[in-house]
Amino acid sequence: MQANVVVVGSINMDLVARSKTLPRPGETVVGSEFATVPGGKGANQAVAAARLGAKVAMVGCVGADAYGEQLRAALVAESIDCQGVSVAEGQPSGLALIVVDASSQNTIVIIAGGNACLLPANVQRLDSLLQQAEVVICQLEVPLDTVAHTLARARRLGKTVILNPAPATGPLPDSWYANIDYLIPNESEAQTLSGVAVDSRASAQAAAEKLRALGAGTVIVTLGAEGALLVGEGGAVHFPAPVVQALDTTAAGDTFVGAFAAALAGGQSEREAILFGQRAAALSVTRAGAQPSIPHLCELSKQAQP
Ligand code: RIB
Repeated sequence: MQANVVVVGSINMDLVARSKTLPRPGETVVGSEFATVPGGKGANQAVAAARLGAKVAMVGCVGADAYGEQLRAALVAESIDCQGVSVAEGQPSGLALIVVDASSQNTIVIIAGGNACLLPANVQRLDSLLQQAEVVICQLEVPLDTVAHTLARARRLGKTVILNPAPATGPLPDSWYANIDYLIPNESEAQTLSGVAVDSRASAQAAAEKLRALGAGTVIVTLGAEGALLVGEGGAVHFPAPVVQALDTTAAGDTFVGAFAAALAGGQSEREAILFGQRAAALSVTRAGAQPSIPHLCELSKQAQP
């Protein structure tokens, strides 16, 4: 199988508790449910792209433990090429501790585990995957040197390069921006990267314009229930979100990114890819968990076209 979408990123096991409210500092709250589900921003985006029509290869690192085996098996079950998923000897798998409240919001703490062992050399060894790809996706849950290498190499190979800058802990190196075709932050990531306080559509546009001035091709700020704002060469376009009753927003952004990439790789236009990503993400928030919530193509085909 020749993958047209390659994801270089994290693979986590999510330990998910549901409670009415999120605990405040020093507070203990009583939970109602607990589940262990495959997640990780990279793996979620790979699963979304695969379920939504792309041929996907994953480059990542799991730990040498039972979670690692389960996480790899979950990707293989989606027909994702896992030749690039290695096992970090002596390391645990990446973990995410997630709490979801009654209003579908969450808090997430990640522990990198094996993800920290994904080095530029791993990606260099898999250069043939990048060469065959049409779209290459990265996030920020693996070492930044690895992300920098991947973005630069994918750009040099002429691929469509997507960076979902999550989680964002500070500004990105300026040198990265020229290697990014699509930068897809949420509001808080757009604020962290740009230094512009993002609390409205206008401020999201100002942040995106600043990031474009640094060299990013097109910036798509995801705004949750408010939709998405595309800021590109032709100006800004707002895409309202489909209205749904949200149960759990975990991996909504990942679903959007994976679906967007699958649509681009399948030859759809930028606008079509955004609408497709929004429909997929809207369906994902009506279900619990990261990978279990991501829809399949047949579910979207059943929905009316926007
Ligand atoms: O974006 C959601 C993901 O963030 C979760 O699956 C968790 O693993 C963290 O990486």
